[in-house]
Amino acid sequence: MAKRVLVSGGAGFIGSHVTVELIEAGYEVVVADDMSNCDMTCFEGVKKITGRDDIPFVKMDFCDAEAADRLFSQYRIDAVIHFAAFKAVGESVDEPIKYYRNNLESFLNVLEAAKTHGGCNVLFSSSATVYGEPDELPVTEKSPRQPATSPYGNTKQMCEDILRDSVKAYARYGKEVKAGSSEEGPIKGIALRYFNPIGAHPSALIGELPRGVPNNLVPFITQTAIGKRPVLRVFGNDYPTPDGTGIRDYIHVVDLAIGHLRAIEKLAEKPGFKVYNLGTGNGYSVLQIVRAFEAASGRKVPYVIKPRRPGDIAECWADPALAAKELNWKAERGIEQMCADLWRWQSQNPYGYRGQ
Ligand code: WQD
Repeated sequence: MAKRVLVSGGAGFIGSHVTVELIEAGYEVVVADDMSNCDMTCFEGVKKITGRDDIPFVKMDFCDAEAADRLFSQYRIDAVIHFAAFKAVGESVDEPIKYYRNNLESFLNVLEAAKTHGGCNVLFSSSATVYGEPDELPVTEKSPRQPATSPYGNTKQMCEDILRDSVKAYARYGKEVKAGSSEEGPIKGIALRYFNPIGAHPSALIGELPRGVPNNLVPFITQTAIGKRPVLRVFGNDYPTPDGTGIRDYIHVVDLAIGHLRAIEKLAEKPGFKVYNLGTGNGYSVLQIVRAFEAASGRKVPYVIKPRRPGDIAECWADPALAAKELNWKAERGIEQMCADLWRWQSQNPYGYRGQ
C-alpha cells in the first residue's frame, strides 16, 4: 500500500510543487489548507499536471486542534510535510501575536494528532532565516542560529526546537510508526532550511502568486516586467558585496520540492531528528537576478536604488554538502532555467490565476 503523506498548506507555492513531485513518485497525498494565502486554481493546476482528479483536499485551519485530530482519524497518515504558516517577515513584526499563535499552535496541533494516531514522520518547512547574518559563508547546518530578526524567523527556530524535543520525548513509543492506530506512536523529524525559493513548474500551471504587493524580490521583478508594478525598488546598493546589492542563494522551487522527496525517504529509514540546508551553494546579487531575468524574458526591468530595508542582511548562501551526502540530493536547475520557468509562468498568468 502506497505511503500516504499529508501536505499541510499544500495549496501554496511550495506545497503545491511538493504535492506534484510526491504524486509523480507514487505517494498518496492528502492536501489540507485554510486557503488564507493561496488560490484554489493552484490546486487545480496540481491535478492537471498529475492527471489525478481524486487528490483528497481538506479545507481547514490547523489551529483547530479537533479538526487536526479528525484529519488523522479519517486518513492513515504515514508522513506529514508541514507548510501551513504565515510567512510575511514584515507583517510578523507588526503582528507578533498573530504570527506566534498561528505558526506555533498549528504545528503543535499537527504533532499532537500525529503522536496520538500511531506516530508519524514529520518534515518541517524551516528557513535559512534562522542563520540571521552569518559570521561565515557558506552556511552549514552547524553554523550557529542567530537571534531572530523577526517573529516569523523566531517561529521557525521555535518549531525546529519543538520538533527536536518531540522526537526525543516520543521515541519511547517504539521505533516503528503505526500510522492510523489509536495508540500513541513515535515522531521522527527532519527540518529543511530553505534558502530563497523562486521559479515555477515548467508547465506554467502552478507558480508563486503573492497576494497584494510582493514582499520578495523575484515576484516583484516579474510583476514589474509585465507592467503590473511601475518600477523595482532595489533596497540598498551600499552592502559590502561586488555590486553593492544583497546576495542570496536562489533555488528553483522544483529542486526544492525534490529535496522533500529525498527527506521523506530518509525519514522512513531512520529515527531521530536532523536538519538539512536546501540551497544551491551559489549566491546571486539583486542586480545579477535582474539581469538574468531580463535576459530570459527579453523585458526590461526598470529599477531605482532605495535605502536598505530594515532587517535585511548583506549576503547568505548555503553549503549544501550534507543534503548531498545524506539525502542524495542536490539542486540541478541553474539561474537561467529558474528565470525561464518564471517568465513562462508570469507571462501566461499575467494577473494571477484569476486576474487577481
Ligand atoms: C532578497 C533580496 C532584498 C525585495 C525572506 C525571508 C525568508 C523567506 C524568503 C519567506 C534582499 C532585495 C527584495 C524588493 C529588493 N521567507 N529586495 N527589492 O529577505 O532574503 O528572505 O523571504 O518566504 O525566510 O527572510 O528574500 O526576496 O525579500 O529579498 O531589493 O522589492 O532582494 O534587500 O537583498 P529574503 P527577499
